[in-house]
Amino acid sequence: EAEVYKYYAEGEWRKSSSAKSVSIINPTTRKTHFKVQACTQEEVNKVMDAAKVAQKAWARTPLWKRAELLHKAAAILKDHKAPIAHCLVKEIAKPAKDAVTEVVRSGDLVSYTAEEGVRILGEGKLLVSDSFPGNERSKYCLSSKIPLGVVLAIPPFNYPVNLAVSKIAPALIAGNALVLKPPTQGAVAALHMIHCFHLAGFPKGLISCVTGKGSEIGDFLTMHPGVNCISFTGGDTGIAISKKAGMIPLQMELGGKDACIVLEDADLDLVAANIVKGGFSYSGQRCTAVKVVLIMDSVADEVVEKVKSKMGKLTVGPPEDDCDITPVVTESSANFIEGLVMDAKEKGATFCQEYRREGNLIWPLLLDHVRPDMRIAWEEPFGPVLPIIRIHSVEEGIHHCNASNFGLQGCVFTSDINKAIMISDAMETGTVQINSAPARGPDHFPFQGLKDSGIGSQGITNSINMMVKVKSTVINLP
Ligand code: G3H
Repeated sequence: EAEVYKYYAEGEWRKSSSAKSVSIINPTTRKTHFKVQACTQEEVNKVMDAAKVAQKAWARTPLWKRAELLHKAAAILKDHKAPIAHCLVKEIAKPAKDAVTEVVRSGDLVSYTAEEGVRILGEGKLLVSDSFPGNERSKYCLSSKIPLGVVLAIPPFNYPVNLAVSKIAPALIAGNALVLKPPTQGAVAALHMIHCFHLAGFPKGLISCVTGKGSEIGDFLTMHPGVNCISFTGGDTGIAISKKAGMIPLQMELGGKDACIVLEDADLDLVAANIVKGGFSYSGQRCTAVKVVLIMDSVADEVVEKVKSKMGKLTVGPPEDDCDITPVVTESSANFIEGLVMDAKEKGATFCQEYRREGNLIWPLLLDHVRPDMRIAWEEPFGPVLPIIRIHSVEEGIHHCNASNFGLQGCVFTSDINKAIMISDAMETGTVQINSAPARGPDHFPFQGLKDSGIGSQGITNSINMMVKVKSTVINLP
């Protein structure tokens, strides 16, 4: 019988009064590996009350002290990289080395946020009235940044630690309290990460982590009157949250269908390397994965051959062995991916490899000659399956990219920088990478999605600025 991990509230680890638990299925064994508490709405209420009280004192805590605690948490997090990475391997089948990288990257993100916070939050603004017509020099306006209150952070399964701290650290440095609702797959890694903040000595009630069923506490959390800001990363749930949430700032990142546009003059070895890295890292379970390749027909055969040969070197198997391709997160996810593959098959796509699946493990698959009437041309598989659409003009590529309801990132490969800039300008996505696969990092870069890919901009500086509001005091001279 798996141990039931406690949730974190008011500075202590607690069992839920529900006496119920949520099972975390190991994607590799497809057996229950861990269990977490199924918190009740009443417990959420308590957490919110405590957060509100703790936040008031935290907002008055000097900025340098807040930064000091974050630096401490970052160091503890890095010290605990091994047990946290172990959870990531068991809960979300992240390859062992990538799991360690996620934790180390998270420690660095927390430290950078503390440093950035002391700079940007330590600065205010002074305006003098006589620059506006009709005014004398009689009013001095002092503006500074103040916290929002309680921030609710909801990260996704694919980065349960990194995409949690990317919300936690900016919220805390800015003087907010933080309530974390981790994804079910990845909840135990998140609880371990929270323990690092606990060990760093943050005040009781300032940080909490509630686990449970979305059906029980999901809407209750996102519609809770005690929440002053929601930072969410995930899928369509984000659209539903944005419709239900109150009049509070929202930060959302909801996936993408990142296009890779390849022109004839591109470095084709670089293209192939980036298609494989961009399409198949963590088995394609990244919102920034390359999800459709739009390639000029004249170079397509050569690139497909190069990609196929690189794909042949990808190792497939359990995350413990650090394989490149590991089981996808759930059986329903594997079924969904299979549905897209079968639809493409029926409609005549060329399979560059044989389709193979065992349990949640899907072998990497390249689909050539995909056409716009196939589901995979538009939907995100979130798995190791990549469609190639052959194009005959740059405009055709841009048109396909912009016809998507998503607009997260995209990339273009060409040796002509002028063309690259023009294509970047024409692509309706939050970021365009020139001659490299899409990626969120480095984590201080702005990160945002247009259209259904999100609301607002992330990246360390933008997240801090999003989690504050401006407060002015005006001195009126006689
Ligand atoms: O899955 C969504 C993440 O924000 C992507 O991050 O580009 O570092 O993999 P990444």
